[in-house]
Amino acid sequence: MTTTASSRAHARPESTGTPAIEARGLTKKYGDFSAVRGIDFAVTRGEAFGLLGPNGAGKSTTMRMIAAVASRTTGELRVAGIDPEAEGPRVRARLGVVPQQDNLDEELSVRENIIMYGRYFGLPRRYLVTKVEELLEFAQLTHKARARVEDLSGGMKRRLTIARALVNEPEILLLDEPTTGLDPQARHVLWDRLFRLKEAGTTLVLTTHHMDEAEQLCDRLVVVDEGRIMAEGSPAGLIREHSTREVLELRFGMERNPELAAVLEEQLGDAVGFSHVEVLPDRLLVYAEQADHALEAIYAAGHKPMTSLVRRSSLEDVFLRLTGRSLID
Ligand SMILES: Nc1ncnc2c1ncn2[C@@H]1O[C@H](COP(=O)(O)OP(=O)(O)OP(=O)(O)O)[C@@H](O)[C@H]1O
Ligand SMILES: [Mg+2]
Repeated sequence: MTTTASSRAHARPESTGTPAIEARGLTKKYGDFSAVRGIDFAVTRGEAFGLLGPNGAGKSTTMRMIAAVASRTTGELRVAGIDPEAEGPRVRARLGVVPQQDNLDEELSVRENIIMYGRYFGLPRRYLVTKVEELLEFAQLTHKARARVEDLSGGMKRRLTIARALVNEPEILLLDEPTTGLDPQARHVLWDRLFRLKEAGTTLVLTTHHMDEAEQLCDRLVVVDEGRIMAEGSPAGLIREHSTREVLELRFGMERNPELAAVLEEQLGDAVGFSHVEVLPDRLLVYAEQADHALEAIYAAGHKPMTSLVRRSSLEDVFLRLTGRSLID
């Protein structure tokens, strides 16, 4: 690949009108084990699309098939209109890939990592010399340009991996758990960079098991569990469809929680906007449109929780509703 980014931007014949990514009946088996069990989704150009699911859901496996580093077992897959299995190099030239585990060269400097990666793509040195400065600035790593990768913090390594993935000016950026393991501040810095990319028109496809990350970044997402898509929609749409507006979290003590859940279901059953009660090991979740009204009713019926908290529904509640399990356990 020796074209410059700008000439490539004008030469995308198969780009027009086709989705960024399209999967139909996509499956992946490892021996007898099905990691991906027939998933369908389409990612529109310019959108931020998420795969939200717990450990082992098949997120990375799906990303690896998109990135043309793993073959699929059955089904259809197109990336920018191209079959990654048939034309891996062409697909890889259009993608930026941020794998779940950083695979930077620890021995090299920050700048050298980007240059080497660009050389691997066959990008001309002249292009890279200016591009690398732009990417370092974007990743807020200019001051670390000469540092060795092994001396960087986790957040800096993640930013470098993203900067490196952008060296070929990809139209689609794949991010496998971009912020897992980072502290809140480092996550916010990364989210900010990803917003900027999205605003500049890059299609983002990311996996996460952080509901807040999905809510912050994704225009649309699929909830995946055990290799299947459980639901699809915008974060707000999924919450509307699968949860109530608010949730009341109550603690009556580990021993009393299950018994109280049944009692509350019974007593709140007719209340306006009440949906159901979920029992978690340490607390009860009362799903209601107006959780403070539910709390008043609970007190009025003579129950006294040790603690109570009213909050908005989140994607965590959607996941719990769909799978009966908690996303973070
Ligand atoms: N190379 C492999 N050989 C055998 N099984 C595999 C292989 N890669 C993944 N799996 C299995 O496939 C399932 C899905 O794995 P995958 O890495 O796609 O999950 P994930 O959603 O990315 O999970 P995590 O959140 O932990 O990264 C898991 O049960 C995993 O053990
Ligand atoms: Mg993974």
